Amino acid sequence: MAKPEMKPLFEERMKKLLSDANDFVRYKEIVHTKPLNYIRCNTLKISCDELFVRLNKRWKVVRPFKEHKEIMLVESELGPGQLGNAIEHLLGYYYIQEVCSMMSVIALDPKPGDRVLDVCASPGSKTTQMAARMENKGTLIANDVKLDRLRILAANLERCGVMNSVVVRNDGVGLCNRLARDGFKFDKILLDAPCSGEGTLRSSAKAFLMWNVKVVDKLSREQKKLIANAIKCLKVGGELVYSTCTHSPEENEEIVDFALKNFPVSVEKVHLPLKCRIGVTHWEGAEYSKEMEKTCRIYPQDNNSEGFFVSKIKLLEEVK
Ligand SMILES: C[S@@+](CC[C@H](N)C(=O)[O-])C[C@H]1O[C@@H](n2cnc3c(N)ncnc32)[C@H](O)[C@@H]1O
Repeated sequence: MAKPEMKPLFEERMKKLLSDANDFVRYKEIVHTKPLNYIRCNTLKISCDELFVRLNKRWKVVRPFKEHKEIMLVESELGPGQLGNAIEHLLGYYYIQEVCSMMSVIALDPKPGDRVLDVCASPGSKTTQMAARMENKGTLIANDVKLDRLRILAANLERCGVMNSVVVRNDGVGLCNRLARDGFKFDKILLDAPCSGEGTLRSSAKAFLMWNVKVVDKLSREQKKLIANAIKCLKVGGELVYSTCTHSPEENEEIVDFALKNFPVSVEKVHLPLKCRIGVTHWEGAEYSKEMEKTCRIYPQDNNSEGFFVSKIKLLEEVK
């Protein structure tokens, strides 16, 4: 089915964000193509080498990143549902996950034994990725507000053999508020926030249709509340990754800038295996700190991927 056209205001905003007309043409072309078939090896169940050999007997599979052998790209032409119905998927040997979506956890880098909070966790792509990095050691609290999505999260955790997680259902703002009040502090927090999904145009026609600047502004207000409360749950020296699958600065740099201006945090540079462009420092009359240049914008035309935003902040002193 042909994708619907971009709304004129969306197109105008993307032109302002991208460097020139040619960049925009490349962007517009790629968002009308299908995304690639990326999977992530679940090292809780199988080694990367073993899975690679096994899958290559059936499909052409490559590992595009030397430092991240768990990231695999299936290059063979696949029929609908073929990746999801494969026995290795049912056994939890791999997770079907767009490559951009893997970047938040690479940036956060949770370790075995860490105490980690996943504020908006469903359906669990990044929770399962964190559990694998943590080798099922330490504590991983996986929260989401939506019950139907939590069911999928729970099923994914089970399929992937995650043993160090506690699943809870709360509004992230209230949860973080209560955890902070009761003195629960985390080494690492992932805030993979609800967003307008501008980066998901390749896989979702809905994102073209649903886009609306009022929704962007509403989400921006919610995201500020989420980050403000999540920061209160960090240990001093603890790190929080804020990520979205959208391009709008109101939902990205504006949120990190808000955190920087209202809390004792620093913005940390993120190092990712994808091509990143630096975050913007002004947008539609708003000025953001130059520190926003440490944040990372991932565009589909740079990586043959979806679009994404990743940033990392560190808590410098206790927040009351
Ligand atoms: C971008 S998705 C998270 C994707 C997930 N991190 C993953 O990698 O699979 C955002 C999630 O936030 C949840 N959400 C929306 N508002 C929330 C809130 N106030 N508190 C907690 N979760 C919320 C949504 O239900 C949705 O599952």
